[in-house]
Amino acid sequence: MPPSPPLTNTSTASLLSGHKMPLLGYGVYKTPAQDTAVAVHHALSHSYRHIDCAVAYANEAAAAEALHNSGIPRSQLFFTSKIPPDKTSYAGARQSVAETLERTGLGYVDLYLVHAPYGGREGRLGAWAGLVEAVRAGQVRSIGVSNYGVRHLEELEAYMREREAAEGSGAGGVLSVNQVELHPWLGRREIVEWCQRRGVVVQAYAPLVRATRNEEPVLVRLAERYGKTPSQVLVRWSLQKGFVPLPKSVNKERIEENAGVFGWEISDEDMETLELDCYEPCAWDPTVITD
Ligand SMILES: NC(=O)c1ccc[n+]([C@@H]2O[C@H](COP(=O)([O-])OP(=O)(O)OC[C@H]3O[C@@H](n4cnc5c(N)ncnc54)[C@H](OP(=O)(O)O)[C@@H]3O)[C@@H](O)[C@H]2O)c1
Repeated sequence: MPPSPPLTNTSTASLLSGHKMPLLGYGVYKTPAQDTAVAVHHALSHSYRHIDCAVAYANEAAAAEALHNSGIPRSQLFFTSKIPPDKTSYAGARQSVAETLERTGLGYVDLYLVHAPYGGREGRLGAWAGLVEAVRAGQVRSIGVSNYGVRHLEELEAYMREREAAEGSGAGGVLSVNQVELHPWLGRREIVEWCQRRGVVVQAYAPLVRATRNEEPVLVRLAERYGKTPSQVLVRWSLQKGFVPLPKSVNKERIEENAGVFGWEISDEDMETLELDCYEPCAWDPTVITD
């Protein structure tokens, strides 16, 4: 196989939907609405093109304001939103997509996710059916899930197959993304393998481990070796694992720092030292929900 071209700040991931997604994302969870437009504007000025938002973050309108004012063509921007966890149902999906479109004025949403596998089987599959309809209606380009464990993914895959068998090709929709917490202290091998084997893109949330591990010797050592910061090593690790990392910061210097992940790479040997085989989430973990 020929070597893959080096990653750059314009690299994209190919989604099973046929669309492309910029590899480096920018998260806005916990960014106060009044600070979001300025922060997103700064991110867009420093090569980010992919904004990870959600209805639950209560800052969709402010994030979209920065997209509208950026002067960057809509086709080069990538905006994600998510169905609120307490609205995981068919009606919740339809309402959530309609409200995002109204709030943002973006015309279409690049990626819409089921935020979490809540609502039981009926809620999850209903929400998925709502997203499939949103794609058909041209409201959304690509759809996916977030915080799905293997059992939720298998339930969804079986449902998609059933719909295809009953109603024809494409009726079940296309699963493009699973967004889960991922970093060296939470490798989630089974979920990652399930997705990557099928070409489902894995987005890594909390890729900086919420800045709680910056003093870890293994990270400090690599940061010194490469002349980078611990945050840059973490984002680069994520890219080299084939994930789409979504670092968040409201701080201008840190927004720039977190994008300084191109033009250098972590050696295979050093990547190996970050295979920690841990289960240490820093956020919630709905992947384990069993209802
Ligand atoms: N689907 C889900 O359920 C889910 C859950 C959580 C997150 N997410 C998505 O993933 C994104 C990222 O996750 P996250 O926000 O939880 O965690 P994160 O990106 O791992 O960490 C963000 C934290 O790290 C700090 N930080 C950022 N850059 C830094 C740097 N260079 N040096 C030191 N500290 C730094 C930030 O503070 P400052 O802002 O002050 O810089 C903030 O406190 C979210 O914004 C959201 O879009 C999705």
